[in-house]
Amino acid sequence: MISVAVAGACGRMGKMIVGQISKQKDMKLVAAIDADDAPQLGKDIGEVAGFGKLDVKVVGASKIAEVLKKSKPDVLVDFTRAEAAVQNVKAASKSGVHVVVGTTGFTEEQKKEIEGAVRSGKIKAVVSPNMSVGVNVFFKQVGETAKKLGRDYKVEIVEVHHVHKKDAPSGTAKKAAQIIAEVLSIAESEIEIKSVREGEVVGEHTVIFSSPWEQVEVIHRAKSRETFAAGVVRAVRYLAKCGKLGEIQDMQDALGL
Ligand SMILES: NC(=O)c1ccc[n+]([C@@H]2O[C@H](COP(=O)([O-])OP(=O)(O)OC[C@H]3O[C@@H](n4cnc5c(N)ncnc54)[C@H](O)[C@@H]3O)[C@@H](O)[C@H]2O)c1
Repeated sequence: MISVAVAGACGRMGKMIVGQISKQKDMKLVAAIDADDAPQLGKDIGEVAGFGKLDVKVVGASKIAEVLKKSKPDVLVDFTRAEAAVQNVKAASKSGVHVVVGTTGFTEEQKKEIEGAVRSGKIKAVVSPNMSVGVNVFFKQVGETAKKLGRDYKVEIVEVHHVHKKDAPSGTAKKAAQIIAEVLSIAESEIEIKSVREGEVVGEHTVIFSSPWEQVEVIHRAKSRETFAAGVVRAVRYLAKCGKLGEIQDMQDALGL
């Protein structure tokens, strides 16, 4: 049985992750953590998330070290905010708990802090701005298309998300730009990213390769946030069975792409 703790458990993603984890036969939810000022503190996370009682109470982030020590999860899943995720990964590292981090919007400094914590604690980690299986196939396709078309095509990325999203451009758009820049040996800044915030759009990414004579587009559309939670389940299972100690891996590794 793989035991799992979820940080950001009361958030939009956290609730779905709690739901999907609790439905897996080989997994058990052992802890739910949210912000110290979350109104759901002390409540049963199953009831908060709308899946019925799970006998796991929501605990405040300042108690994370204590909670991890007591509940001994194999993996901590973090879907919070960038500053919070850094602190949560540090706590997991000190307790020898592997991490799946879906939180986005990290600065270079914060990425280094996470890398350092994973290395010093010799824990396993999957960090990915987009946990969806389809998006990871999209990343692969974007890289291959860039390679085949080469530098003669101008590259532009358009990303559309719901109005509640805090960071722009999206982590997924930045990752696509990074892949293309690497393949074409150009600076990421040469790739224009347009961010649109509109209604309740789950997440759309279009990479446009254009020359004066033609245009090629690679598109991914997420229909439901459940796709990210399903990817989290795959990443948790990957870390429990495989993964590399002290290293950050991404969803491409977890999915064997
Ligand atoms: N990687 C992916 O596939 C993917 C998919 C969707 C969203 N995201 C990212 O996941 C993050 C969360 O997204 P969301 O839509 O669920 O946001 P949300 O605001 O609904 O949820 C975040 C939750 O984290 C809680 N929180 C804040 N500080 C905390 C702390 N120190 N410890 C524990 N919990 C804390 C908040 O109270 C809230 O309940 C964002 O960074 C978002 O961009 C990633």
